[in-house]
Amino acid sequence: MAKVSVIVPAAGSGRRFGGKANKIFQRLKGQPLFIRTLEVFTNRDDVIQTQLVVSESDMNEMKERFGGHLGFMGVTLVAGGDTRAQSVRNALANVVDEADLVAVHDAVRPCVSSLWVDAVFKEASSTGAAILAYPVHGTLKKLSQQMVIDKTVDREDLWQAQTPQVFERELLRKAYAGQVDGVTDDAQLVEALGHPVSAVMGDPRNIKITTPDDLALAEAVIGSLPKAKAKRPYHPFAEDKW
Ligand code: CTP
Ligand code: MG
Repeated sequence: MAKVSVIVPAAGSGRRFGGKANKIFQRLKGQPLFIRTLEVFTNRDDVIQTQLVVSESDMNEMKERFGGHLGFMGVTLVAGGDTRAQSVRNALANVVDEADLVAVHDAVRPCVSSLWVDAVFKEASSTGAAILAYPVHGTLKKLSQQMVIDKTVDREDLWQAQTPQVFERELLRKAYAGQVDGVTDDAQLVEALGHPVSAVMGDPRNIKITTPDDLALAEAVIGSLPKAKAKRPYHPFAEDKW
């Protein structure tokens, strides 16, 4: 079983979501959404380290309100940077040497099933680099500034990148060693090294909470996520002959 270090970037400002507090503190089924996201990883046997990357402006609140709980979960806090890539890079510096793989998963994707995490971890263990992705099903239009259709874009072979994105530890370190301006996901940097990145079938429910509408959607779908089958409890009379 590959050992995995998990980085959860949460250091954005949630500008498109709006509101006074950062969207990461929004409640989903009564629980802050970043806690829901973290639990998917801290409950796993193959995860040996979990880092939550938090902005300077949220750090005090995070420590005061959730420091104890996060400590109990085994989550460490890291200061974020100006961009997502800089936030990930800050956490990469602390990844333990015992980790075979590093998984990056956005704090604002709380609707991820552990079954999908299993699948992308497994693929990354064999290929060194894998992400969850989902095919584009709708028809894509390129618009002009005046909201008039310029053209229809061929959607064949187009997939939306999701997270987790999972890589061999040193491969991701190498990918992040150069400049990271304009980079919006981790795979881009690995692609730029010329290393193949496999896509594993994700799910449309694994949404990124960007606007308040997305939160309503997350509330609606979170109860429907596929769960791992419960192990059959031991029973002394549960022999086949019975
Ligand atoms: N993120 C981060 N550090 C940054 C910017 C973003 O860790 N400097 C994190 C966000 O907290 C989020 C994830 O990267 O979990 C994806 O980013 P996004 O959805 O764009 O969140 P925000 O940047 O917070 O939102 P917005 O772009 O609307 O301000
Ligand atoms: Mg952003």
